[in-house]
Amino acid sequence: MIPNPLRDPRDRRLPRVPEPCALVVFGITGDLSRKKLLPAVYDLANRGLLPTNFALLGLARRDWGNEDFAELARSAARKAARTPWREEVWERLAGSVRFVQGSFDDDNAFDELAATLAELEGSHGIGGNAAFYLSIPPAMFPVVLKQVQRTGMAESTPDRWRRVVVEKPFGTDLASSRALNELVDSVFSADDVFRIDHYLGKETVQNLMALRFANTLFEPIWNVHHVDSVQITMAEDVGIGGRAQFYEETGAARDVLQNHLLQLLALTAMEEPVEFSAEEIRTEKLKVLRAISLPEDLATSAVRGQYEQGWLAGQRATGYREEDGVDPHSTTETYAAVRLGVETRRWAGVPFYLRAGKRLPRRVTEIALVFKRAPHLPFADTDTEELGNNQLVVRVQPDEGVTLKFGSKVPGSVMEVRDVSMDFLYGEQFTEASPEAYERLLLDVLLGDATLFPRNAEVEASWAVIDPLEEFWAGTRPQPYRAGEWGPRAADEMLAAEGRRWRRP
Ligand SMILES: NC(=O)c1ccc[n+]([C@@H]2O[C@H](COP(=O)([O-])OP(=O)(O)OC[C@H]3O[C@@H](n4cnc5c(N)ncnc54)[C@H](OP(=O)(O)O)[C@@H]3O)[C@@H](O)[C@H]2O)c1
Repeated sequence: MIPNPLRDPRDRRLPRVPEPCALVVFGITGDLSRKKLLPAVYDLANRGLLPTNFALLGLARRDWGNEDFAELARSAARKAARTPWREEVWERLAGSVRFVQGSFDDDNAFDELAATLAELEGSHGIGGNAAFYLSIPPAMFPVVLKQVQRTGMAESTPDRWRRVVVEKPFGTDLASSRALNELVDSVFSADDVFRIDHYLGKETVQNLMALRFANTLFEPIWNVHHVDSVQITMAEDVGIGGRAQFYEETGAARDVLQNHLLQLLALTAMEEPVEFSAEEIRTEKLKVLRAISLPEDLATSAVRGQYEQGWLAGQRATGYREEDGVDPHSTTETYAAVRLGVETRRWAGVPFYLRAGKRLPRRVTEIALVFKRAPHLPFADTDTEELGNNQLVVRVQPDEGVTLKFGSKVPGSVMEVRDVSMDFLYGEQFTEASPEAYERLLLDVLLGDATLFPRNAEVEASWAVIDPLEEFWAGTRPQPYRAGEWGPRAADEMLAAEGRRWRRP
């Protein structure tokens, strides 16, 4: 009999709806919850991707009742929802929203939360399944995890699952991330822990795997024999917003290099997984992270910078040290660039240049493979003066897509070759808009699909790359750059010394 693909449970084209369950958000009144989580819950409901038996619970300090909370949740969801607003969808959700008031050190509040969850099993048929989302300051992780453990809410049994979602930062160095992993693993079993790196929820990041492993075109040239270097950029035009305290203690390397950029590097450099499953993909990524080498001389291969006042999009931008809440003598970096190696047969000798910065000219995240020049050009030198290296650029955000840059003859001239671009834009090729990263990742948590969530060993391997950098930088002053420029001059010099240039996306 020919199998009906529509009935095949492995058919990933089919929408998957989680089992009945509850989502419990700690810190539900906070910034992340209002901007991302609540809108994502609404969007999932609107797309019919939440189970009929679903409940949303929140715990925070404010003295609110269920109705106050439902109103906050409604306005947050309405403000940032990706899909059209349908009152009836919200009304249905609102019927299963519960708010428990209390502080994280308040035993009574957690007892009440456990009782509410148990009551919802009967009244809303959630089957005892629950995911706990820690959308809280990292310093609060231990106290909340201990409370969840104390009240018996963390235990998965054969009849019910219990999962925990941990937001970055996953520690501030290798030692603290190990301590955090040990703590989380002492409360939840490793399979029930979901670490959010929201970059992995982005469509183009997942497309990187499709691009590489579903085509024949790219993989044969995806190696040291053809690739000259790789540039991974995460540029933001914004400053630090209202997050001075957090940023002062963190800096660009800990904030985004350790997680987003190293994850992008891992996906770019990894070998083909045996199958498209959480276990196999995470195994391949981990191998890359463990194979990363730092240059011997960090003085010439790593640069940290801090923005000074400048101009961006015609507006004056304040310098970092003048931002509210920032120490006027701060040495925190708002820009970090480093040259890494990946010591594998595929990549040995290929530099991976990573850079991330705030107050750069535009917001863009991309991965660029810069290919080697042709070994021989049968043209006069003047014919190819304008020809650069071929490049394949995967744009993660905005304008998600892929660009191939290669040389082409200039029309009319006898023979002049110049760079041109071939663009694939998601927005043009597909009518369906991509889900928001949090929408995708929340759904995966409820489905128990850990493919897009880094494992604890990946997090630790990433810190093992960042720790020596931080040690090297400790006590040094970051190089200044003006807001609106592409980082400090030293970063340009770092590439120029090796005969290369940063892309100007
Ligand atoms: N915001 C973002 O864009 C973003 C991005 C990536 C990762 N993250 C991570 O996500 C987490 C949450 O960030 P956030 O920006 O949403 O923080 P936030 O705006 O400061 O919100 C913190 C939440 O925790 C609650 N809370 C804090 N201390 C509490 C206590 N002792 N008892 C009870 N409730 C307490 C607050 O409740 P009350 O308001 O009632 O006090 C609030 O709901 C952090 O780990 C952060 O690093 C945030």
